[in-house]
Amino acid sequence: MAIAVVEHTFVVSQVHMTHLCKKTLVTVVNGQFPGPAIEVMEGDSVAVHIVNKSPYNITIHWHGVKQRLTCWSDGVPMITQCPIPPNQNFTYRFNVAGQEGTLWWHAHVPCLRASLHGALIIRPRDGASSYPFPKPHEEIPIIIGEWWEKDLSKVGRNLRDGSLNDDPSASTINGKLGDLFNCSGVAEDGYVLDVEPGKSYMLRVINAALFYEYYLKIAGHKFTVVAADANYVSPYTTDVIAVSPGETVDAILIADAPLGRYYMVAQPVEPPLLDTQAPVYVTRGVVQYNRNHNYDNSTATPVVPEMPGMHDTMVSFNFHGNLASLHHPLRPTPMVPVRADEHLFIALGLGMVPCQVGQSCSKRQGEENFIVATMNNVSFHLSSTTTPLLEAHYYHTGRMDDVALELPDRPPRAFNFTDQALIPEGPKEALLEPTSKATVERRFRHGTVVEVVFQSTALLQGDSNPMHLHGHDMFLLAQGLGNYDVEKDVARYNLVNPPRKNTVHVPNLGWAAVRFVADNPGVWFMHCHYEFHLSMGMAAVFIVEDGPTTGTSLPPPPMDFATCGNYQSYLQTKKSEVSHISGV
Ligand code: C2O
Repeated sequence: MAIAVVEHTFVVSQVHMTHLCKKTLVTVVNGQFPGPAIEVMEGDSVAVHIVNKSPYNITIHWHGVKQRLTCWSDGVPMITQCPIPPNQNFTYRFNVAGQEGTLWWHAHVPCLRASLHGALIIRPRDGASSYPFPKPHEEIPIIIGEWWEKDLSKVGRNLRDGSLNDDPSASTINGKLGDLFNCSGVAEDGYVLDVEPGKSYMLRVINAALFYEYYLKIAGHKFTVVAADANYVSPYTTDVIAVSPGETVDAILIADAPLGRYYMVAQPVEPPLLDTQAPVYVTRGVVQYNRNHNYDNSTATPVVPEMPGMHDTMVSFNFHGNLASLHHPLRPTPMVPVRADEHLFIALGLGMVPCQVGQSCSKRQGEENFIVATMNNVSFHLSSTTTPLLEAHYYHTGRMDDVALELPDRPPRAFNFTDQALIPEGPKEALLEPTSKATVERRFRHGTVVEVVFQSTALLQGDSNPMHLHGHDMFLLAQGLGNYDVEKDVARYNLVNPPRKNTVHVPNLGWAAVRFVADNPGVWFMHCHYEFHLSMGMAAVFIVEDGPTTGTSLPPPPMDFATCGNYQSYLQTKKSEVSHISGV
C-alpha cells in the first residue's frame, strides 16, 4: 500500500446532549461523543485541521504518537504551541511511523479531554493479515469514559486551586452510560456488541476517563491481550483487563460461550480506604450472540460477571506485571539499553503551598494553604502566557533559563514513602507538606539513556499514578509494592522483554522502574494522567537536545505555525474578549 496522507477536519463545538434526565452542554468534536476515530496505516502522514468553534482555548494531543522530529505538533498548550483561541484554526501534521496498535487523541487543556477524545488506530502497512496473531474477524474500539454534567473548564480551575470536590455524573462505554444509570426509572442505553459464535473480535480498549483506573470484564469470556500502548505484547490470557487513564490495551475476544447475552462491565478502582472515597460509577454494556442461530437475544437477561473488589488493586498489579514485549521474527523490537547514563528517582505525592491573594484556600493550623501535586516536592507551574517553551527553546530566547527549575534527581529528603500513617492529615504528614511551584524541567543530551524510578507515596493519599511521557516509549523494567530498594530491586529488572509503554501505571503505595532513550529532540511533557494530579502540578518537562546531524535535530516549525503573537494580533483586530490565552 502506498503511503497516504490521512486528512481530517475536527470542528470543536458545544452541543446539547441529554442523559440522566438532564440536558447538558458538552464540548465535542464533529458533534460526537466520543469523537471520530482516526484510522491509518503504519508510515502514513496525518493532517488534522482543527476549527475551534468552542468558547475555550484548545489544543489536541496525539497521545502515544512518537512525533519523531515533529514536537511542534504534540499539542500541549504553552509547552509546544499557543493554544487555539475560539474562532481560530490550526493544522496538526505528523507521521505515524514505527508504531502499530491503538492510540488515541484528546484535548490537552484542563479537564476538557473528558469529552474531547477519540481513538487513533494504526494498522500494519501490509494490512491486517500481517498482525502477529490470527487476523480477527472484527476490530472494535472500546472507549471507557466519564459523563460530566459539571462545567469542565470550571472543574479544571477548581483543581488548579486545590479543590477536589467535583465528580463525574456517570461512566461510559463508547459514550453510553448503560442500564445501571437511569432517568426517572428508565434505564440509559448501553453499548451493545453483537458477536457471532466462533468468531474473534479485537477490542481496542482505551481509558479516556479523567479520574479512575478501570477493570473491564465480560461475563463468560476471556481475553487474550496482544498489545498495550501500541506495542505488541506476548499473548496473555486473562478474564480481566486493567486500564489506567492514558493506557490502551488490545485484546482478542473469542465468541466461544453458549449463545446468550453477557454483560461487559467497566468498574473503577478505588484507592485505599484511608483515602477520600469518591462515588463509584460502574458502567456496563452487553455482548450478545446474534439471532441467526434460532436464538432470540431480545429477552434473555445478560449474565453478570463477578468483579474484583473495589479496592483490590492487586488485580491491576498482576495485570501490569504480566505484560511482556513480543519477540517476533517480523517485528524486531528495539534492544533494551543495558545500562543507564542518568538515574532519576521521582517521588509522586501531594503537598501544600501558601495561598495566593484572591484565591479561596482552606485554613489549617492557622495558615492558609492549598493543596498541590508534586514530583520530588515541586509542583509544575507555567508563568508566561506569551511564549510556549518549545519556541523559547528553539530560538534560544532565554526564557527557559529565567523560569525553569531543574527537576531534582531525588526528593529533598528521604522518608518512608509508603507509610500509610501519612495519608490522613496529621503531625507526621504536616512536616512533609511544604512545597513550592516552578516550571520544572530536565535537560538531556541527545541519546542519553535515562532511568526513572517512579515512587508512589502516601502523602495525603495512597493513590496510584499513571505516568505518561510524550514523544517516547518507556521500557517498563519492573514494578513493586512498598519502597523501592536499589540493593535488591535492580536484580529484578527485566532486560529481556520488558513491555514498552507511553503510560506506566505506578502502583499505589509502590513503584515502577523505566528506561527510555532520549533521542527525539524537543520539549516533552511528562505527567500523571489522572487529571486531578496533572491540573494540580504533577508534571515536568523533559528537554531533549538536538543530535549531531540534521536527521537528529528538530526542524523549524511548519510555515503556517501560529505563535501567540499571531493569535493576539488577530484577537485585537477582532476586539474579542479573551482574558488569557493559557491552557495549563
Ligand atoms: Cu494523554 Cu500529556 O497526555
